[in-house]
Amino acid sequence: MSSVLQDPDSTDWPDSGRWSSQDVGRLIYASISSVDGPVLDEMRSIRDHAVVNNAEHGLRVVLMHKCGWFVEWIEGPPAGIQALVERVTLDPRHRSLKVVHESVGRPRLVKPWIGSIAQTTESTGEFARRVMALHDRHVRGKGYEPASVWRSLCSPLPGHVEVAAAREGTYQRVMMMSARQTGVFDLLHWLANESDRTVVHRRFAGSAKDALDVESDYLDLPDQGPRGRRLIANARKGLAMGMTHAFLPDYAAVVLLMQPDPEVNQRMLERLLLACQQINHQPAMIGLGANAWFTPELQFATEARGQRWIEARTGGAAVPSHWRLWNTLKAVLDQLG
Ligand SMILES: Cc1cc2nc3c(=O)[nH]c(=O)nc-3n(C[C@H](O)[C@H](O)[C@H](O)COP(=O)(O)O)c2cc1C
Repeated sequence: MSSVLQDPDSTDWPDSGRWSSQDVGRLIYASISSVDGPVLDEMRSIRDHAVVNNAEHGLRVVLMHKCGWFVEWIEGPPAGIQALVERVTLDPRHRSLKVVHESVGRPRLVKPWIGSIAQTTESTGEFARRVMALHDRHVRGKGYEPASVWRSLCSPLPGHVEVAAAREGTYQRVMMMSARQTGVFDLLHWLANESDRTVVHRRFAGSAKDALDVESDYLDLPDQGPRGRRLIANARKGLAMGMTHAFLPDYAAVVLLMQPDPEVNQRMLERLLLACQQINHQPAMIGLGANAWFTPELQFATEARGQRWIEARTGGAAVPSHWRLWNTLKAVLDQLG
């Protein structure tokens, strides 16, 4: 997981014109991929066109390839979206394009293009059923909001499509980020092993040609929390490429897995607080680590931004085991409700 170690300092955001809270057009479609060879190469070639075109027309896009399907989420001026869809429909790299969401509302996306490829155990048939169910709802005027639609396809909750979609809003979503190295990914994989569940692994690529991939893994614990819980481990670099911002509004809490150096913890916390400020969202911030790693500045900084600071202390000064980290964090998350 070497790419996770890359850690640009700046959030470099927004870079696609001024982000505003003014309403924009929003459209999501799914299409069957006709890509024969390596998907990564094709994604790169799509990116090379898309970055230039989309920025020129004020469009922001996330494209995912999964289960032999493409899913594209577009935001921007409605006329620009329409023109893009007309152009993309003619592209031989996919077919049977189905619109699953179309509306005007608050923007979520912040970059002209983000591409991602998801590993999944889901069958193409199951994915197609999700697409058709969402398409039907959209046609009947009963569609869900765009982030929900996107997740229903790209990172669905366990269970039948309609049941999973209906649970969407009630799941406790918790984002986790390490102040240094890849501790949250290790913790997630340990927990998956302990609870006999599977981690879903995703790679995201940004607009810049030389941008390295960003990892994001998640684990569902449907029997925990008020109505199920999802833990999402994000790489720090996700803050720079805009993907974290798109989903931040859905997180009940953000966990910062700390380490012994107070400056590193403080710097990482500032970056997280800045991202929350940029999208006007105030999740609870949870510091996780040994007692000796907590400094009063962490609480001051968080509360100064109007956010709640919660300390999940594992005790002492020793580096805590995964077991200790998880049991301490779980107790805090259960309290959050
Ligand atoms: C699934 C998929 C998504 C695409 N997304 C975009 C996009 O967001 N923006 C874009 O300009 N082109 C996108 N393209 C590429 C366009 O279909 C088209 O090939 C490209 O814009 C070049 O068009 P032109 O030759 O008419 O300039 C996408 C292609 C596919 C297959």
